[in-house]
Amino acid sequence: MASLCRLICNNVKRAMPTARHMSAKAGPLVDVAVDGDGIAIVTMQRLPVNSLNLELLQELDKALVDVGKNKSKGMILASASPTVFSAGLDIMEMYKPDPKRVELFWTTLQGVWLKLFGSTYPTAAAINGHAPAGGCLLSISCEYRVMATGKYTIGLNETALGIVAPMWFMDSLTSVIPQRQAEIALTTGKMFTVDEALKVGLIDETASGKDDAVAKCKQFIERFDKIPPLARSYTKQKVRSRALSWLNKNREADLKEFLQFVNSPIVQQSLEMYMAMLKQKAAK
Ligand SMILES: CC(C)(COP(=O)(O)OP(=O)(O)OC[C@H]1O[C@@H](n2cnc3c(N)ncnc32)[C@H](O)[C@@H]1OP(=O)(O)O)[C@@H](O)C(=O)NCCC(=O)NCCS
Repeated sequence: MASLCRLICNNVKRAMPTARHMSAKAGPLVDVAVDGDGIAIVTMQRLPVNSLNLELLQELDKALVDVGKNKSKGMILASASPTVFSAGLDIMEMYKPDPKRVELFWTTLQGVWLKLFGSTYPTAAAINGHAPAGGCLLSISCEYRVMATGKYTIGLNETALGIVAPMWFMDSLTSVIPQRQAEIALTTGKMFTVDEALKVGLIDETASGKDDAVAKCKQFIERFDKIPPLARSYTKQKVRSRALSWLNKNREADLKEFLQFVNSPIVQQSLEMYMAMLKQKAAK
């Protein structure tokens, strides 16, 4: 009884808006700023495209832990780039990889997903630009998505690179859009325009730009002001429990499968061609 009371009290404290303005630099690749309402804005700032390398993932991991410890009311994931939310996994981490580093890279990504998808605090993504692959994954692991209008795209395009998205990527997608649309999107490597994403439910709202996206994410998080936080977080955990326990139980097997894929000559060839295509496009 006493421990239940303590839990409720702690959670009530979390729900109270904080009067202080707190801003903390998490590291060079991720900025964490907590606003006057107690909402943490976690900004990825590995420019130009926030491709997720080991160091960015490690900083994200730390930021997610810190947001939980600081009892923030909620977390908004954002990008410092004006046109890209995140370009997804850094291809250079997977191309001719160093065996130890690529293992750490993948287990760190698993950890980030478990913390983000399973966070007790409310989460929203302010998607102010392109969000392919891992960029899409981060956003669909949040509870709410607001995307800036523009010629941006979002989706899990792994198959286009010859990579098979792991189970937890798929689980994240089917937690947001219906299974049939998810299957077609995954097998075709579909990148959705902003309008298409809104229509299928991949994003929840559009915004005129980053500030508007952040403001709309805040409005989403503030919806929970009158909801008892303990009931909220348990409910979220239960809804997400199947996907979370799958990865918790299968981390080793998932790593093994990734390493097998990434080290296969055909995947290496696909990655090489894809990188060359990106470089060629950038040079134009
Ligand atoms: C995100 C994207 C739409 C942004 O387009 P853009 O603003 O025109 O930026 P560019 O394509 O010119 O990319 C800028 C630089 O980042 C690099 N880059 C882009 N995505 C990258 C990635 N996922 N990993 C590593 N490097 C990447 C580009 O090669 C380029 O490098 P350079 O400046 O040395 O030539 C585009 O970069 C893209 O489609 N990236 C690949 C996304 C993807 O398929 N990711 C899946 C990874 S599994």
